[in-house]
Amino acid sequence: MTDLLFSCLLKDSPMCPITVNGVEHQVPARLSVAAALLYLGNLAIRKHPVSSEARAPFCYMGVCFECLVIIDGQHKQRACLREVMPHMCIETAMVGVNP
Ligand code: FES
Repeated sequence: MTDLLFSCLLKDSPMCPITVNGVEHQVPARLSVAAALLYLGNLAIRKHPVSSEARAPFCYMGVCFECLVIIDGQHKQRACLREVMPHMCIETAMVGVNP
């Protein structure tokens, strides 16, 4: 059962081109956007609207709303609920902070 869950992280799995904050990357296909951002080393992906503290995805199942990003111009998308698609354009609120 777990083999299927993690098969997208195998060495020869197909890759998917995405753009994060204007930078092109290749990530394993079939990852969620939140998992792809983590795969790329983005731990924090937004700032708290009041305190400006760095925030990161927490639940990875659509409950906490800590993973809000802009996907293809659509604001407030939960990154954990969207699968990466070829040439998807993702914007986080952490431009200039993450790689
Ligand atoms: S990580 Fe909790 S809603 Fe996306």
